[in-house]
Amino acid sequence: MTEPVQTPQSRFKPRIFSGIQPSGGLTLGNYLGALKRFVEKQDEGIETIYCLVDMHAITVWQDPEKLRQQTREGAAAFIAAGIDPARSILFNQSQVTAHAELGWIFNCIARMGWMSRMTQFKDKAGKNSENVSLGLFAYPSLMAADILAYHATMVPVGDDQKQHLELARDIAIKFNNDYKVDFFPVVDPLIEGAATRVMSLRDGTKKMSKSDPSDQSRINLTDDADAISAKIRKAKTDAEPLPDTLEGLKDRPEARNLVNIYAALADMTPQAVVAEYAGAQFGTFKPRLAELSVAKLAPITTEMNRLMKDPAEIDRILGAGADRADAIARPILNQVKDIVGMIRSR
Ligand code: TYM
Repeated sequence: MTEPVQTPQSRFKPRIFSGIQPSGGLTLGNYLGALKRFVEKQDEGIETIYCLVDMHAITVWQDPEKLRQQTREGAAAFIAAGIDPARSILFNQSQVTAHAELGWIFNCIARMGWMSRMTQFKDKAGKNSENVSLGLFAYPSLMAADILAYHATMVPVGDDQKQHLELARDIAIKFNNDYKVDFFPVVDPLIEGAATRVMSLRDGTKKMSKSDPSDQSRINLTDDADAISAKIRKAKTDAEPLPDTLEGLKDRPEARNLVNIYAALADMTPQAVVAEYAGAQFGTFKPRLAELSVAKLAPITTEMNRLMKDPAEIDRILGAGADRADAIARPILNQVKDIVGMIRSR
């Protein structure tokens, strides 16, 4: 009898890791592209590890008090959205030092050429590349460490993180090849659903982002019902009614965006949304979208505000999560050190 062929992947148990930067309030983009899906993965019963990546946040300047506040607010958003800290591991990155340690080792695996091709770095650095932090350049290498410190196999993210995950795969493969080991899994990005790229409400060709100077461009998870409704009412659209097929939204990025948001919030496909609203004007569709958004987001905002009244409890949850995360990452990091040839005698 011949043994079944073992793919490198098959010896790793399914484990999900993902992170969000506490570099500002969370947006509807973060919620639909990431957080809502984090909850779905947890509820499917897969082992889930979620992280507020405060070390990534400081690659651009963060006011210390605001960083603390936003980290707690991020944790409150996770819990309010349905992450159960007993079932998922929820923590902030800087409390588990394996991330920084493995990040350094990966800085020595990743190549300058790979990093120079990262479009997010190029976008963030812009014309100012001489004056951005070294951390911003190394950002994707730390991200690879976040994932691989847990031997995570699946990473749910929005579309904008695709290139970073390809880099994490390249780092895992190069490490395995350089040291002639089959140690790191090659991660699978999970970029799924109707809202993998939520666009700005003011410009359908730009991503909805917490760093956009216009607050009108995004829905924040802290917005109240009136603010949400007003932003959707004023969202840029065109004069055409909704078509009856997705094909009809091809060159209408703003219309397509609102349909995608509706679909993701209602757990429908975009096809089903256009089928339901075929021929409707935005004067009809927008109030329905506003109503749906408020119905889905208001309970999360209310719960977040309640949780934020007890910051000590949030800190306790993050600390307990960090202990559990450390218990997984530390032995993996120790094996990495052994592979690399670093003495561990204490
Ligand atoms: P961040 O903090 O920018 O965003 C967190 C998550 O939200 C998704 N996202 C969106 N999805 C759809 N539409 C949008 N407009 C939108 N804006 C943001 C992002 O794709 C992401 O999934 N580098 C990461 C954080 C990170 C990480 C990791 C992620 C650090 N280490 C390890 C996964 C695994 C980032 O900046 O995400």
